[in-house]
Amino acid sequence: MRALVVRAVDAPLRVEEIELPAPGPDEVRVSVRAAGVCHSDLSMVNGTLGPPYPLVLGHEAAGVVLEVGHAVTRVAPGAHVVLNWAPPCRDCWYCGRGEPWLCERTGSPSAPRGRTPTGEPLHVTLGLGALAEQVVVPQEAVIGVPAELPFEAAALLGCAVLTGVGAVRRTAKVAPGESVAVIGLGGVGLSVVSAARAAGADPVLAVDISPAKAALAATAGATDFLLADETLNRAVRERTGGRGVDHALECVGRATTIRAAWRATRRGGQVTVVGMGARDDIVGLAALDIFHSARTLRSSVYGSSDPDRDVPELARAVLDGTLDLAHLITDRTTLDGAPEAFARMARGEGARTVVLP
Ligand code: APR
Ligand code: ZN
Repeated sequence: MRALVVRAVDAPLRVEEIELPAPGPDEVRVSVRAAGVCHSDLSMVNGTLGPPYPLVLGHEAAGVVLEVGHAVTRVAPGAHVVLNWAPPCRDCWYCGRGEPWLCERTGSPSAPRGRTPTGEPLHVTLGLGALAEQVVVPQEAVIGVPAELPFEAAALLGCAVLTGVGAVRRTAKVAPGESVAVIGLGGVGLSVVSAARAAGADPVLAVDISPAKAALAATAGATDFLLADETLNRAVRERTGGRGVDHALECVGRATTIRAAWRATRRGGQVTVVGMGARDDIVGLAALDIFHSARTLRSSVYGSSDPDRDVPELARAVLDGTLDLAHLITDRTTLDGAPEAFARMARGEGARTVVLP
């Protein structure tokens, strides 16, 4: 079967023929029907994150179960599923206190999962490697969804939407009438914008370095679009009685944008870091400012969500029309077109590209 593989930092992406093991007793084989191209995949390529190579890309996907190991109880062949890149163990201290997104045992397994036809071991992104025709994953990494749910929407539920909606509802707990700034308008940020609007936030200030994002921001429900330049601070204050926003949500994953989110927030307000940044990108904040501004700085890992509970809930919302994801998908392509989708994402174009392998 075919998969999108990167072999070194910034190496060209290639669709390669790969082999996956048969599912173990506790594993399932899934035919991938739709997979989103997420910035975290780009971070696996461009050196922001340091994954082992060669690596099969992709971690935001949905498909159909083809084959299950004999101990699998969660799903049967034919089930439609969303892939979960952080399946919790349900047994550790964090899982026990109802915070499965902080599970101590989850995380990218370092053991390679697939191999090339010549026997070379292949790693898979976040335990999935979903930019591929198929994946073989532990049963805990699949979540059943209704067969009526379109695969494209289902795929986005597995990362951008769970992360974005969860950041607003569960991490930041945005309340009606609160002011919100969202910095970075990719698949994650645009899903934060619509969730903030749905939560009754007003204004919702959508911020990006790319002016082309203004139209997407408006469709997602932003009240204003602001350019991320030296005018940002003043523009935010003009719209918030001179104070700054109640909530700033950073959806880029860089120290500069975390600082911009910090500055955009009012005294006593909350900064939620949604973007996943690099190990060596240091955020400098003045000690006096930290004290005087009384702001809260926190992060949102996987939307502070329990995917087993929240993905089916979001799937129902898509089906009953209360959660519209159509505006998040700006391009569709095949596996062979996926390298170009990475290039578009690196240039800050569009929202999500969905790959239909
Ligand atoms: N200021 C404002 N916006 C910026 C800046 C900046 N300095 N730099 C980049 N951006 C914008 C880009 O123009 C783009 O619109 O941030 C957006 C990022 O969008 P995507 O590349 O589509 O990223 P996305 O998949 O949404 O992920 C965002 O969340 O899950 C994490 O690892 C992921 O850190 C990444 C973040
Ligand atoms: Zn992602």
